[in-house]
Amino acid sequence: MNISKIKLRRVLKTDLEYFRDWRNSPEIWKNNTQFTFLNMKNQKKWFKSLSKKDSKKEMFTIVNSKNIPVGICGLTNLDPIEKSGKVAIIIGEINVQSKGIGTQGLKLLLEYGFKKKKLHRIEAEVIEFNKKSLSFFQKFNFKKEVRLRNYLFRDNKWWDMIVFSKIISD
Ligand SMILES: CC(C)(COP(=O)(O)OP(=O)(O)OC[C@H]1O[C@@H](n2cnc3c(N)ncnc32)[C@H](O)[C@@H]1OP(=O)(O)O)[C@@H](O)C(=O)NCCC(=O)NCCS
Repeated sequence: MNISKIKLRRVLKTDLEYFRDWRNSPEIWKNNTQFTFLNMKNQKKWFKSLSKKDSKKEMFTIVNSKNIPVGICGLTNLDPIEKSGKVAIIIGEINVQSKGIGTQGLKLLLEYGFKKKKLHRIEAEVIEFNKKSLSFFQKFNFKKEVRLRNYLFRDNKWWDMIVFSKIISD
């Protein structure tokens, strides 16, 4: 599908309402490891934490060709000694998912992580029922590494967490 080019840019305060609404939507929330809902108070606190000197995360807003936010992605758990980090990525609206935006976003994020930040290893965590995401990371040659058994309790059931990793030579 021919979709317009997206860009990653730094997170602005005006993006926070988008993030809150996306994260609280049932389609995104159910795939997230954090069980809590977001509000503007915790969003503003999170935004402040991004610019802290000792912050272990670098987040970007994914914007479309009209500069409208369509998603968020970034690297968390950054460890400068071990040169590792973990992917976070959300394409916000369900009607813009599965149109190639995630692919463009993750490609740019991996380039940033491996080339600019010179990371050696990038991890991704996916709940076992998130079939889209399982397929998404495998498409990028992330390797299935560990299955954390009964990691989360959702809908009256225990679910495993699958940990993927990609190292620079993969
Ligand atoms: C997972 C996510 C980031 C993928 O981004 P996207 O823009 O929807 O995905 P793309 O259109 O770029 O598709 C990339 C790959 O993802 C997988 N995928 C996308 N939509 C899919 C669907 N409806 N069913 C199954 N696999 C799907 C496929 O492997 C696809 O590759 P292909 O097009 O060659 O088949 C996005 O769907 C999302 O934000 N999901 C909800 C939040 C989430 O789960 N984030 C990840 C937490 S670990």
